[in-house]
Amino acid sequence: MKYKRVVAVKIGGPQVLQIQDFELREPSRDEFRIKIQAVPVCLPDVQARYGLSPYPPRIPFTPGYAVIGVIDAVGDGERRSTFRAGDRVAALTVIGGYSEYIFLKKNQLIPVPSGIDAADAAVLILNYMVAYQVLHRSARVTSGSSLLIIGASGGIGTALLQLGKLAGLKMYGLASKSKHAILEEYGAAPIDYHTQDFVEVLRQLEPGGIDVVADGMGGDYYNRGLSVLGKGGVLVEYGNPLGFSHLLRLLGKTLTTNLRFNGKTVKLYGTSFSVFNRRPFLEDWEILFSLLAAGKIKPVIEHRYAILDAPEANARLESGRVTGNLVLLSPEIL
Ligand SMILES: NC(=O)c1ccc[n+]([C@@H]2O[C@H](COP(=O)([O-])OP(=O)(O)OC[C@H]3O[C@@H](n4cnc5c(N)ncnc54)[C@H](OP(=O)(O)O)[C@@H]3O)[C@@H](O)[C@H]2O)c1
Repeated sequence: MKYKRVVAVKIGGPQVLQIQDFELREPSRDEFRIKIQAVPVCLPDVQARYGLSPYPPRIPFTPGYAVIGVIDAVGDGERRSTFRAGDRVAALTVIGGYSEYIFLKKNQLIPVPSGIDAADAAVLILNYMVAYQVLHRSARVTSGSSLLIIGASGGIGTALLQLGKLAGLKMYGLASKSKHAILEEYGAAPIDYHTQDFVEVLRQLEPGGIDVVADGMGGDYYNRGLSVLGKGGVLVEYGNPLGFSHLLRLLGKTLTTNLRFNGKTVKLYGTSFSVFNRRPFLEDWEILFSLLAAGKIKPVIEHRYAILDAPEANARLESGRVTGNLVLLSPEIL
């Protein structure tokens, strides 16, 4: 039997994504075969396809940073595992998700509670995790803290808006004018970065400075974000560095900033930290699933596509017109 994957056959735009057939093999001893139900489409997928990543995947590769699916076959060495055929699981795969099936190891699997919508779960596993940890692990926000979100209308941005509202934060967000309604819906004051200088705006509105800046865009937002922080303020940089030299420069700049001891701190955030310590991630996914089940958060999903329509979904994300998230779904779920 064959299955299909969406493969980036060279570096470039969405047109380099091609659908290819692969033999559906049995899982090896320590593997689980997962039938994929949902995959978020996110900016790191696009960045990886353009080769803009500290460790770009080798071409050809299948993009797809996270998956939700059902275990449909278990390797011989995992027959006594807590995960069994039929279980619903998730994983942060970084690549490989744009596919009908994926093969994963036990230490990659995350249990998914039953009854949760697959598309919501896919957004939660990646974008809400980043947003939650930026706020509660990196910045350690408290009710009443002020927050500036750079990139507030996107996948992680809208998760920051919802979680920020839930945490009782006073929020400002940078977004294109056409997307301001979503910021206002969650109580954030929108700033149109195309026509307004946010540093000037915030100097007027928050003369004592902002407590937390969450920056997913990088570049000169690093220095400008630092400049609007008040004493004791934290800038959390969660945007992926766009190359290895970019990563080194970011590390150097962060070390220098933090050694100035001027009352402002920069923290770097990446889901890759889960490789070193998975426990906080498992704890936070559990919290996020409970918030979702209780109706306290609800991912903003602009459009749902079939998994094999990933090229179209990527083109839409790259157009810059998306508010919130795009999700790929298997035909049974769509
Ligand atoms: N650290 C990690 O582990 C991790 C994981 C996932 C993602 N990321 C990073 O997080 C960032 C956001 O990812 P995402 O998937 O949420 O992206 P997304 O959904 O595409 O959202 C990006 C948002 O940025 C806004 N934007 C674009 N150019 C801008 C600019 N010059 N100034 C201010 N805002 C701008 C866009 O909206 P407007 O039209 O309103 O400007 C868009 O809503 C990316 O850099 C990605 O690499 C990091």
